[in-house]
Amino acid sequence: TCVDIDAEKIERLQSGEIPIVEAGLDDVVADAVAAGRLRFVTDPRQAAAQAEIVFLCVPTPQDEDGSADLSYIEAAAGEIASSLQVGAIVVNKSTVPVGSVRVVEQVLQRPDVEVVSNPEFLREGTAVFDFLHPDRVVIGGDDLDAANTVAGLYTPLDTEMLVTDAASAETIKYAANGFLAMKISFVNAVAAMCEAVGADVADVVEGIGSDHRIGRAFLNPGPGWGGSCFPKDSRALVSIAADHGYDFSMMRGVIEVNDEQRIRMVGKVAQAVGREIVGEQPLAGVSIGALGLTFKAGTDDLRESPSLAILEQLADAGAAITAYDPTAVGELDRIQQHRLARLQLAESALDVAHGADVVLILTEWHEFKDLDMADVASAMRGKAIVDTRNLLDPLAVKSAGLTYDGVGRR
Ligand code: UDX
Repeated sequence: TCVDIDAEKIERLQSGEIPIVEAGLDDVVADAVAAGRLRFVTDPRQAAAQAEIVFLCVPTPQDEDGSADLSYIEAAAGEIASSLQVGAIVVNKSTVPVGSVRVVEQVLQRPDVEVVSNPEFLREGTAVFDFLHPDRVVIGGDDLDAANTVAGLYTPLDTEMLVTDAASAETIKYAANGFLAMKISFVNAVAAMCEAVGADVADVVEGIGSDHRIGRAFLNPGPGWGGSCFPKDSRALVSIAADHGYDFSMMRGVIEVNDEQRIRMVGKVAQAVGREIVGEQPLAGVSIGALGLTFKAGTDDLRESPSLAILEQLADAGAAITAYDPTAVGELDRIQQHRLARLQLAESALDVAHGADVVLILTEWHEFKDLDMADVASAMRGKAIVDTRNLLDPLAVKSAGLTYDGVGRR
């Protein structure tokens, strides 16, 4: 039984509409509903009263100071506290600061109910696949029986099961996201170095990634990491460590490199049109065609999107921007909420090229790879392509008479 207090969302789910972009989810949900194993309701108490195990999956947004806001999880726990069955298990699925299992226990005030942590490692857009093929399942709790009961739910997945104390499980989630963000910041810094010394980041990544101690995954340079997890969790990691008297300077550096990466991309656009980012409105009169708004391909999520952060800086510098994104078409409202009031949306990828001085690739949507560069060249006013995802073939771009600048590419 899935509960949400958002009645509209539940109605949409009940009528078979999946409110998020996620490959394979429609079928999974439809099959489970048809088989009578899945239903969507709005009453948390009634659902809790019928459950042996309750997963808390509410968001933990970020407070002003970078710490995680626990008010949703506290509200959810408070709502179900008196309805839970004797001996029920409450599972923290939300990403919560170390020690939150205790917070939930205190809100529940139910000594007969066990609380365990079970962090998720799912990526948006591939969450169904990631759920069915996990590298590991982590369960943290003081009561071994409760932890084992929750572990039992995952038996069919035939994966490594790690049972720890609650604080370790909670730390694993932050440390995993922090490490992945670090890999990306590292490769972005290496890409900057490649540009400085005349090396090619693609070869460098292949060379280091094939060392199994390093691994090839999450070493793709880009416009910086974004989304609903890495930015929030990396800041929370710094904040949790500071709360406990540790200055996590390495993580601060990871975040700093990510902020610099966005600024570097803005610099690349300026350079491509022969300008410099100095003084007032240094990009006045420059027309930019931007491809991609979401924080990565395969999702419609704009949260902490590097693309929007970069476009905001370009707009502040005086550039006129027309953008296209396959999942954000017709969603100008949502984008304007992201402080990009002056952004124009185009109907197609090729449309953004019309009259543009520079075409800027920001999200790695596959359809941008298939653009005919001769068509792009004839639609543009200028001739610069800046590819923050190293998506295009530089030779194809150049043979259409355009200039190409990627990230760390020769
Ligand atoms: C992430 C974690 O991967 C997942 O385990 C966790 O549960 C939630 O956070 P998600 O936010 O969906 O998942 O996105 P992910 O695919 O990890 O990408 C995060 C960001 O890093 C994106 O902005 C992406 O473009 C960027 N990225 C990723 C790179 O720039 N280079 C890479 O090599 C990989």
